[in-house]
Amino acid sequence: MFKPNRFLPYSRQNINNQDIFEVNEVLKSDFITQGQNIDRFEQNFARYVGAKYAVACATGTAALHLACLSLGINSKSTLATTPITFVASANCGEFLGAKTKFVDIEKDTNCLSASELEKLLKIKKIDLVVVIHFAGHSADMKKIYNLKKKYKFKIIEDACHALGGEYNKTKVGSCFYSDLSTFSFHPVKPITTGEGGMVTTNSKKIYEKLLIFRTHGIHKNSKDFKNKSFAFDKNGNVNRWYYEMSHLGYNYRITDIQASLGNSQLKRLDKFTSTRNKIAKIYNRSFNNNEFITTPSVKENVKHAYHLYTLLVDFKGIKKTRNQVMKELAKFNIGTQVLYIPVFLQPYYKKKYNYKNIQFKNSIEYYNQALSIPLFTSLNRKEIFYIIKKINEVINK
Ligand SMILES: Cc1ncc(COP(=O)(O)O)c(C=O)c1O
Repeated sequence: MFKPNRFLPYSRQNINNQDIFEVNEVLKSDFITQGQNIDRFEQNFARYVGAKYAVACATGTAALHLACLSLGINSKSTLATTPITFVASANCGEFLGAKTKFVDIEKDTNCLSASELEKLLKIKKIDLVVVIHFAGHSADMKKIYNLKKKYKFKIIEDACHALGGEYNKTKVGSCFYSDLSTFSFHPVKPITTGEGGMVTTNSKKIYEKLLIFRTHGIHKNSKDFKNKSFAFDKNGNVNRWYYEMSHLGYNYRITDIQASLGNSQLKRLDKFTSTRNKIAKIYNRSFNNNEFITTPSVKENVKHAYHLYTLLVDFKGIKKTRNQVMKELAKFNIGTQVLYIPVFLQPYYKKKYNYKNIQFKNSIEYYNQALSIPLFTSLNRKEIFYIIKKINEVINK
């Protein structure tokens, strides 16, 4: 019987010789950071998702923080997001002293429920909604956008899971229904740069702010210089060394080494997405006959990016705990993960807000059943069918 000779994690990177060649070329060049590879990566990325501007940065978390800074989120602001996400989707507002509210998810897509959001908007002024395209399935952006028009809030699409996905035939990240979109290039994500992130927007004003906050709040726009006597020589020309810090910014830059890897990976993104969809299709077919498993559903107007493939498991039905199932599968070299623990249950949020489970019924129900199983582009057929066989054996009475 076939046994894989490697551990199969829930996700992992795909690096080929071309990626290694491109990174090597940068290492041999004069600029390993702040060179042309970053511009190239940003331009290619913006073109791919169909947004006017893209700003590359250090991580997906930095992307969210930059997005909030560019919108002027502060200690008077309130951010709303869903509990089923990575903590960074909520933390980005907390960094700036904003308050965090949570909105329950839809049962089928596990994304933000527009009707639950409206219930909150009726009783509380919300300044920013961070929408997660959970597992790579776009949230219902049109409905959320209609609420934005009615209740006047900003939208960040946390698209860290969804690069390569589409909504209404438009690429996720186009910002058609939002102010900004953010991405992560951590190795488990649709493409990788080791660590890395990207923000996209169609607003020039926001774009310029993102650039400033990414580099210490420093700019070299001579028309905006305040200290004229330092900035200009007696002929009115800008002094060669001169720059100004106008805002309190960060060093959230990505390196050229990383950007070259991102550029190389971006060329294979469509292939990656199609492979992920093919594997998901095989999984759907194979697990649909298991009465203890519910497979992910996909809305008609959505192209799933399948960053994650998450089963909902009836652990009570099989009389096993989730931990037991995870341990049993690990013995077969099959990695699984629980993505995510509802954010409001994290001790930081519990202590600060003390939100109750009862407010987020769908999130809690999802959390109690969720199990993400291996889905990555280098999985081969033998490994896929091995995973299916073992999961069907373990998740059964
Ligand atoms: C939904 C979501 N948002 C934000 C992030 C943060 O990205 P990074 O790890 O690149 O900082 C992640 C990463 O796990 C994520 O899954």
